[in-house]
Amino acid sequence: MVSPLPTATDTTNANTADTHNRQLFIETVGCQMNVLDSELVVGALRRQGYELTDDMKSADTILFNTCSVRERAEHKIYSLLGRLKYAKRQRPGLVIGVMGCMAQKDQDIIFRRAPHVDLIAGTGQLAEIPNLIAEARQTRRRQRALSLGRRDGKRVEVADSFESYDPTREPQMRPTPHQAFVRIMIGCDKFCTYCVVPMTRGPEQSRPPTLIAAEVDILAEQGVKEVTLLGQTVNSYKHTEEGRLYRLSDLLHKIHDTPGIERIKFVTNYPRDMGSDLLEAIRDLPKCMHYLHVPLQSGCDDVLKLMKRGYTVAQYREMMDRINEIVPGCSVSSDFIVGHPGETEASFDKSIATIQEFRFKNSFIFKYSPRPGTKAFDRLADDVPEADKKRRNNELLAIQNAVSEEDNAEFIGKSVKVFVEGESKAESGKRKAEDANASPSSQDARPAIQLSGRTRCDRIVVFEGNPRLAGSSTEIAIEDCTTTTLIGSIVTHDVQHGCDVGLPILT
Ligand code: 5AD
Ligand code: SF4
Repeated sequence: MVSPLPTATDTTNANTADTHNRQLFIETVGCQMNVLDSELVVGALRRQGYELTDDMKSADTILFNTCSVRERAEHKIYSLLGRLKYAKRQRPGLVIGVMGCMAQKDQDIIFRRAPHVDLIAGTGQLAEIPNLIAEARQTRRRQRALSLGRRDGKRVEVADSFESYDPTREPQMRPTPHQAFVRIMIGCDKFCTYCVVPMTRGPEQSRPPTLIAAEVDILAEQGVKEVTLLGQTVNSYKHTEEGRLYRLSDLLHKIHDTPGIERIKFVTNYPRDMGSDLLEAIRDLPKCMHYLHVPLQSGCDDVLKLMKRGYTVAQYREMMDRINEIVPGCSVSSDFIVGHPGETEASFDKSIATIQEFRFKNSFIFKYSPRPGTKAFDRLADDVPEADKKRRNNELLAIQNAVSEEDNAEFIGKSVKVFVEGESKAESGKRKAEDANASPSSQDARPAIQLSGRTRCDRIVVFEGNPRLAGSSTEIAIEDCTTTTLIGSIVTHDVQHGCDVGLPILT
């Protein structure tokens, strides 16, 4: 149920001439949760006759789905909003909306810095957006709908106010036609000191397993073959339905046999909640990927304590040992924050050592960004100079890249099973440019192009093949690699006396 705060009604002085052509432009910043939210909002607006455009100038409705995790993401939005000031003067019928984490956290600041914004919708108010747009267009008054702040009511009221909906989906917004995100949790209760998410996404709530399974069924009927279950701490999932407690392991068992679904993954994991039941489910369920994103954040116990992450490096090591024991060959990726308050050169060296020890498949590395509203912002001085943050970021990335390349090189000469996602990104950019100049008939007879897919361990593989392979699994012989990618070609088996002669297949 969605329970927005009362809507404020400040009048804008805009001319009300309606040049409404139902062309929607949406810019999405941030995590997969935001990508999914955009998909849901676009789905709802399409049912009202809107069409998506990637040209901001021809749109009459512009939405920004925002992120507050780091300051830079917010700057990007303010700069885009700034550029629209003139457009709004020229085209008063234009409706500009800000949704997502920034909207939830900074509604007044946004209206002050960008008075031409017409509507603000919080992270739990996706369902409101079509009405807010219609109201803004009709009345020329500002609209806002937000979830309750964490201190503004009883936990259940606050949690309910963040309860958004997952309506019919919008296939065009998916990562590819064969892949879809499914939200299984909302919010976060971990309160790491540096992180704004518990404020912007509200209290942790797990969705009922029956609803999730029904959503996966629908997606599979629409042709989706790979689902990624989403939650800020996805392995903390817990929901009691008809007297039975479902953990993430139980949910995986519940959705595993959905006809049509070939792969299941889930992000992001919290180290302390990595139960052996979950690892055993991954081991026992063939559709589960052997890949876990489990952010360590720092290799230094003193910093982990300041972050209030709730574990030590030794405890993280114990988790890694269990992963390797129960799911041998499972790849693990991490996030790191460099330059967190209190991070000395000695503590930074410990982060380097953990990358070398745990050999993450890849790591996302971020410079600490002080976020108003967090404990770290209030209580810890941002005491690492920007130049040191930058250097540590580059150094850690170089160490991670060396590890990734070494481990990728192990695959050369071997064969891997790959789920084909579609054209590789580089190829798709090139193709768009070519297609713009090509006649329709020349687009039909496409030769083999560079495709991209992933192994069961989430390693990216590029190879030449027919675009029709998208959404299927194929075997690729690996011939080369970079830090991020395995490069190979499709294995064509020589059939001799009824036997397949091929390379040993790895995942
Ligand atoms: N500064 C820098 N990085 C941050 N992250 C979260 N909050 C901050 C912050 N204030 C990073 C963490 C998290 C990822 C999504 O973003 O590494 O895992
Ligand atoms: Fe933020 Fe920590 Fe929650 Fe992750 S677990 S969303 S870092 S508070």
